[in-house]
Amino acid sequence: MKAYKHTLLGENEVAKWWPNQLNLKILTQNPPALKPTHSDESYKEAFTKLDFTQLKKDLEQLMTHSVAWWPADYGHYGPFFIRMAWHSAGTYRIMDGRGGASTGNQRFAPLNSWPDNVNLDKARRLLWPVKKKYGNKISWADLMILAGTVAMESMGFKTYGFGGGREDIWEGEEDIYWGNENEWLQDKRHTKENGLDNPLAAVQMGLIYVNPEGPNGEPNALAAAQDIRESFRRMGMSDAETIALIAGGHTFGKSHGAANPEKYVGPEPEAAPLEEQGFGWKNSYGKAKGADTISSGLEGAWTPTPTKWDNSYLEILFKYEWNLQKSPAGAWQWVPINPQEKDLTPDAHIAGKKESTIMFTTDLALRLDPEFEKISRSFLEDPKLFAQSFAKAWFKLTHRDMGPKSRYLGPEVPQDDFLWQDPIPNIDYTLVNDEEVQELKTKILNTSLSISQLLYTAWSSASTFRNSDKRGGANGARVALSPQNGWEVNEPQQLQKVLQALTAIQEEFNARHESSISLADIIILAGNTALEEAVKKGGYEKTVPFTPWRNDATQEQTDVHSFSYLEPTGDAFRNYLQTGCEVPAEQLLLDKAQQLTLSVPEMTVLVGGMRVLGVNYNANPYGVLTDNIGALSNDFFVNLTDMDIEWRPLNEESSLFEGKSHSNGEMKYKATRADLIFGSNSQLRAQTEFYAQDDTKEQFIDDFIAAWHKVMDLDRFDRI
Ligand code: HEM
Repeated sequence: MKAYKHTLLGENEVAKWWPNQLNLKILTQNPPALKPTHSDESYKEAFTKLDFTQLKKDLEQLMTHSVAWWPADYGHYGPFFIRMAWHSAGTYRIMDGRGGASTGNQRFAPLNSWPDNVNLDKARRLLWPVKKKYGNKISWADLMILAGTVAMESMGFKTYGFGGGREDIWEGEEDIYWGNENEWLQDKRHTKENGLDNPLAAVQMGLIYVNPEGPNGEPNALAAAQDIRESFRRMGMSDAETIALIAGGHTFGKSHGAANPEKYVGPEPEAAPLEEQGFGWKNSYGKAKGADTISSGLEGAWTPTPTKWDNSYLEILFKYEWNLQKSPAGAWQWVPINPQEKDLTPDAHIAGKKESTIMFTTDLALRLDPEFEKISRSFLEDPKLFAQSFAKAWFKLTHRDMGPKSRYLGPEVPQDDFLWQDPIPNIDYTLVNDEEVQELKTKILNTSLSISQLLYTAWSSASTFRNSDKRGGANGARVALSPQNGWEVNEPQQLQKVLQALTAIQEEFNARHESSISLADIIILAGNTALEEAVKKGGYEKTVPFTPWRNDATQEQTDVHSFSYLEPTGDAFRNYLQTGCEVPAEQLLLDKAQQLTLSVPEMTVLVGGMRVLGVNYNANPYGVLTDNIGALSNDFFVNLTDMDIEWRPLNEESSLFEGKSHSNGEMKYKATRADLIFGSNSQLRAQTEFYAQDDTKEQFIDDFIAAWHKVMDLDRFDRI
């Protein structure tokens, strides 16, 4: 067939010729033009109109009624839906907060075609009648998780609740690094020196977590335990949570491997022919469904009661010794030696027929790894503890990328606060009014703190926000707590000094007024006040918007370990790069800009503005392309486009540069990669030229203020 080359994704001209160019498209994903909806109604508003009770009833009805095109095992789709929900949530990794259930990305490439997601296209299509009926009131992202949760309830398990609020995307994400392999199930991500490549959590390309047969298909349960521990740790799970999840999950359902996939299974959805209509993995074995289904290639159920919640998974795991065998599809799995009649499992499709149960190598790991074994046994001996642990771990797994509890919607949100939700106390005091804000501003200006110090601290506080899992941000004032108050990038000594001065103002103010200001708020107000001064010094008079709404968290409410993942290796906005960091500064800049939800112009104005305001780590001179530090101006852009300046690398790795005058050889400025990229990359240069123009001086000031304000308020979820 002939092709219109420009219409094919793999033919992208720029990527083809210059594959190392910055992908600025990650800042413009899911543009409004992709959304077919005409309504201004937010998902939150639409969700509140949902008849949640009826939706749950419909889901339960749907999952207990088998349909001809994809018959249910044991007449119940519940286990299938649990696997779909687990695979939706299980891509989350704590290091960069990306992946997870909150966007409904399982519908798009690459996830819709990952080998580990084999046949989950059918699970989503089974849900279509319900999605169709409830429309905009329930997103796919919410529906997939709810279906898994309702499935457990319908099989007798008491779950911990459900919070809605996951808004669908309309195209697959481009900002998530899933690994550098170019073949499914390859593993090029482990090195002897560094172990698993950061920030990945899965051990092979196309897997959600680990290989069920054991590392790279070797049936070694102890080695599998290592993989499980590492992968689930990177998902933010402890050993106990990990075991609860695996044992709880495999209490339900079965695996599918009726015959050799290489012989009978067609291409994945993205590669399937048109007539398949988005389905993939077309099976040509037997009836191609039901008893002849080929999914993972492993075959069999774990328990005698695959559609009922009970303790039988752990009972069977510990009761028998296990023999290694191959499934009909040729995959390694384990069968119990001499199982009792009562421990056989019913055939999923033939009434009255009984079969042996099975375990994966990864299931045996829960018994054979000495640390895992202790926990598994404690669950075996205390079914109540097991049930509670599984309920909590499932709730965490499926909600942990949604950010604070205030974002959860619906009638079944649990009251409890969990540490992983990064709780912040509710505001139970009167907030400051406009007049009081003015009073506070005067006090702030009367301190000896500089514009740069105040801005630096406000940025340190707000810029931890990451949109991937909605963690971090200025609310909570966690910049004053461990671990953030000790991060190198936050300049602990200077931070301490600024916080002391601001706390003194706060305490004095709160003692004299009926209203109160939090430390979290005063940090941002101080930054804004400094910015207004800097604007004044630059020749303009502007107000930086401020709304008091933040409260302070305590150290006890802060999971130090989990917050340590938010520490930046580089923050190009402050021209900071951790010693030894090998990622080029401009890539870290783009990554952070994406996490801060910045557009290309917003990223540009913030870097240019912050440089001339002197908001650099350790007051370093790089990128400070002005002679008037502390006054907000477009000098950065003007000097970057000055043809008289010639830039030269200062070191072998071209990470630092100096700029000298062509005309007299005078040293003018120094810069990092994160600065010069704005003159070098053609798209960023276009932005730079725009802001260097004589007619955009004031627009630059306005745009900087707007972008600054946006970052300060990124975690203000009540507005959405
Ligand atoms: C070490 C981690 C895990 C591995 C390697 C693993 C692997 C697998 C595999 C290979 C299958 C068979 C798929 C098929 O052929 O249909 C399966 C099924 C299933 N898994 Fe897991 N899994 C893991 C953890 C979990 C977790 C954490 C849950 C949920 C909490 C879960 C829930 C399920 C369920 C319910 C099924 C049955 C699906 C059905 O009946 O169609 N799994 N798993």
